[in-house]
Amino acid sequence: MLSNSSLKVIKNICCIGAGYVGGPTMTMIAYKCPNLQIKVVDINEKRIKAWNSPDLDDLPIYEPGLSEIVEKVRDKNLFFSTNVSEAIASADVIFLSVNTPTKIQGVGSGKASNLEYLERSVREIASYSSGHTIIVEKSTVPVKTAETIKSILISYFNKESSVEKTYSIISNPEFLAEGSAIKDLENPDRVLIGGEEIDAINQIANIYNQWVPEQKIIKTNLWSSELSKLAANAFLAQKVSSINTISVICEKTGANINEVSRAIGSDKRIGDKFLNSGPGFGGSCFKKDIMSLVYLCNFYRLDEIAKYWENVVTINDWQQDRISNLIIQKLFGTIRGKKIAIFGFAFKADTNDTRESPAINISKNLILEGAQLSIYDPKVKEDNIKREFDYCLDVSTNKEFESSWAKTDSVEEAVKDADAIVILTEWVVFKKLNWNYLVGLLRKPSWIFDTRNIFNLRDLKDLKNTGINIWINGQDIPN
Ligand code: UDX
Ligand code: UDX
Repeated sequence: MLSNSSLKVIKNICCIGAGYVGGPTMTMIAYKCPNLQIKVVDINEKRIKAWNSPDLDDLPIYEPGLSEIVEKVRDKNLFFSTNVSEAIASADVIFLSVNTPTKIQGVGSGKASNLEYLERSVREIASYSSGHTIIVEKSTVPVKTAETIKSILISYFNKESSVEKTYSIISNPEFLAEGSAIKDLENPDRVLIGGEEIDAINQIANIYNQWVPEQKIIKTNLWSSELSKLAANAFLAQKVSSINTISVICEKTGANINEVSRAIGSDKRIGDKFLNSGPGFGGSCFKKDIMSLVYLCNFYRLDEIAKYWENVVTINDWQQDRISNLIIQKLFGTIRGKKIAIFGFAFKADTNDTRESPAINISKNLILEGAQLSIYDPKVKEDNIKREFDYCLDVSTNKEFESSWAKTDSVEEAVKDADAIVILTEWVVFKKLNWNYLVGLLRKPSWIFDTRNIFNLRDLKDLKNTGINIWINGQDIPN
């Protein structure tokens, strides 16, 4: 309808949104397709400046392997800029990678996705694009978002300047996981491309086909592609919530969660991935995408299905509250004035991203009970932690919380005179620590709460005579 299906050779790509999805994805495409010129644009000047920083340690995103590839392609066929209109005007293909967070007010608040940024970007495309443009939904979007995009574009058709403009809309959701983005992009399980016109689908498939084998490229209709991304995230999150419920049963019964995970994961039908119990899932996607699915179900009056998926999030919230309550209870029911060392603030290892990190809720609960937190994370910046606390503790009206936490530069500093260590992110560095030494720095009696199951039998044996109390998620450790 919108397209003239012209099969011109793709040369210029624009990506709107230089975030955790847009940045690494375009870096990989630039690396694998040297014949393409790629402009990644963003309205956030600070972010673009960081992408262009000569010091690769200053890139806005930490991902293993990312800076090495950025160094190879930046300013050759990959360019970061704030000039959105110019990048749109010269693009044959535009990837939409802006954020689509859950709405926090108005209709659908707490469930529906906020498409304000996506809409703004589509309006800019309508204004500045020229000739035929393929618009690719890279951001995760609610099912039927392509309809919204079409409606906006059509509304511009009557304007004189739009006479020569045509579009194809493609859904190409990104499945990379943070922390392994480069590995996932280089060797994806699949690339999903949904659309209504086979020419446009094939043109996008040709880009990926430079390094992804044909059989891994799945071509579907638009709605299947949009829904598949929500469904995949919902299934993954459901697996995490499921194993977290089993971990609690393990603690009660004397079963061991690692043994149970291994036993059930060896069944190929279940699969051994995503069976690590922990403090609950975080990240910008799982909760948002499940709530988007719930909103969709409510819209179609599928209330039982909505409730089913919503429970995955309920269990996740409950797990975080359970862990903070357990810490308070073990520390004699009060943590007022006690120093607690938090190990890890990122929502998972190998990323500096803190969005929806379980560390936020757990820390918040501890601060509200009067604890003094000292936080160590090898990659998360202090500014980022501050932003999370300012929001969740409403620091502008509760100034007293400003001094309830501090970020430390070393684990020793975090631990000194603390009553407890709470491990919240499974960073490899935490697995290699000299626990015997660290335990000596704590105030006695003291506790280690290992929510990520990073302690092994050898660590436990080493600590046997130190008098430390240990709680490991999903294990019954005698005091
Ligand atoms: C992803 C999205 O692609 C979403 O679908 C996914 O489910 C989770 O978030 P991500 O890359 O992780 O996005 O988000 P973020 O790091 O916030 O990056 C989005 C970027 O878009 C930001 O840098 C923001 O400044 C930029 N943006 C936003 C614009 O350039 N223009 C806008 O109008 C709005
Ligand atoms: C997820 C999807 O995996 C990815 O395909 C999609 O594109 C974006 O959302 P991401 O959120 O980056 O990726 O990381 P993921 O590895 O899925 O982890 C999500 C959360 O689940 C993390 O907090 C992680 O710690 C937790 N998790 C994961 C567990 O608690 N246990 C597990 O076994 C696996």
